[in-house]
This record gives sequence, structure tokens and C-alpha cells, in this order.
Amino acid sequence: MDLMIRPYERRDEKAWLECRVLSFLQTAYFDDVLQSKPHYDNPSIELVAESRGRIVGLIDVEGELTPGSICFRPEGLGGVIWNLAVHPEYQRQGVGKELLLAAESSAKDLSVTRFEAWTRDDPGTKAWYERSGFTEIYSYLHVYIDEADEAQGILSSTVDHLKVMRSFAHYTGTDRDDIRRRFRRVHECRLYEREL
Ligand SMILES: CC(C)(COP(=O)(O)OP(=O)(O)OC[C@H]1O[C@@H](n2cnc3c(N)ncnc32)[C@H](O)[C@@H]1OP(=O)(O)O)[C@@H](O)C(=O)NCCC(=O)NCCS
Repeated sequence: MDLMIRPYERRDEKAWLECRVLSFLQTAYFDDVLQSKPHYDNPSIELVAESRGRIVGLIDVEGELTPGSICFRPEGLGGVIWNLAVHPEYQRQGVGKELLLAAESSAKDLSVTRFEAWTRDDPGTKAWYERSGFTEIYSYLHVYIDEADEAQGILSSTVDHLKVMRSFAHYTGTDRDDIRRRFRRVHECRLYEREL
């Protein structure tokens, strides 16, 4: 494939958003839709993969300036991969690998020694992180409380006449089976880490 990894530019924004939403469509992040590209408070690495003038992949890594300020593990300075996506027509052709390699070589500019990445339960994505040298170090549950029967007795409001219809929650307890029994949409959110 004719592939170029280069820094993100403002003119890429529409193609960046389209690539991300298409990439996520068949994953557990299918409804995590952005309408504008995020910007970061800390120094960042923002790269795109371009093939024949088309944006086919992207990676954003934010580097922390104080240990533990954005990373889960407060050990040395780390960088968080906030966005990683390869267009579905270009997946499994080495684009993700090239993006990660380029981000790693830029990581020394941020003085970070580790990358952290959060992902849900998509087997392909998990396989990619593990093949790329990442190790799962923590997980908890993402719980969507969407249906009236699920919300019954759980969602309430202190505002008169305001009824809460749905909610998104984090579950960090140990009875995961109970949570999975009670709610239909539950994801395991996993933290992967890799030393650089
Ligand atoms: C995860 C992702 C970034 C990987 O990028 P990629 O360019 O497709 O992957 P690469 O070509 O670098 O690596 C391919 C390897 O990763 C693993 N892999 C990637 N996708 C896979 C899938 N759907 N099923 C099984 N293994 C998969 C395999 O080990 C594969 O090697 P193989 O094809 O020889 O079996 C990309 O598939 C993607 O954008 N997925 C959807 C969005 C997403 O989940 N983003 C991360 C959110 S946190």
C-alpha cells in the first residue's frame, strides 16, 4: 500500500472524523461519535495515515507532564492513546502498526516512557494490542442503563417533573456477573500498557 504517516493538519479534520466514525461502527464504541477533533492540554502526538490522498488511519497520544495526571498508573511519565482508528477498508494491512511505530518514535520528544490505552471488548482490537506488545493491567465495566425496566429503582432525579430516562455508569466492584444479569449493554473496559 502507498502509505504515508504524517502529522495531523487542521485541513484533515473532516476526513479524520469520518475515518474514526467508520472505524468504530462495527465495534463496542459504535456510538462514540465526535463532531470535532479533540485537542489536548498537554503536549501531544497527532498523526494520520494517508494513502493516495485519503486519510485511512489516525492516532492521538497525549503525554503527561506530571506522573499520574492523565495516566492510570502514576509511574514515570506516560502517554495516553486517546484515539486510534484505521478505516475498515484498510484494516489488517499494517496501517495500525505503522501509526504506532511513528507515535513511539515521537514519544521521546514528550519524554514519556510508557503508553497507556483504554479499549472495550472487541477481540480484534485486543488481539492487536497484545500483538503490539501491550499488556492488560486493569479493567472495570461500562454499563448503559437504557431501558425502562433497567432504570426502575436506579435512576431518579431531585428536580420536579424531571425523569431520568437513561444513564452511563462505571462499575468497579467485584460482582460483575450480577451487573451483566441486570443490564443488557455492559462492556469490559480494559487498560493496556506498554513500556517504550
Ligand atoms: C485495532 C486497529 C487500530 C488495528 O489496526 P490495523 O491496521 O487493522 O492492524 P495491523 O494491520 O497493524 O495489525 C493486524 C493484526 O492485528 C490483529 N487484528 C487486527 N484486527 C483484527 C481483527 N478484526 N480480528 C483479529 N485480529 C485482528 C491481528 O493480530 C492482525 O494480524 P493478522 O491480520 O496477521 O491476523 C484497527 O483494526 C481498528 O481501527 N479497529 C477498530 C477501531 C478500534 O477498535 N480502535 C481502537 C479503539 S480503543
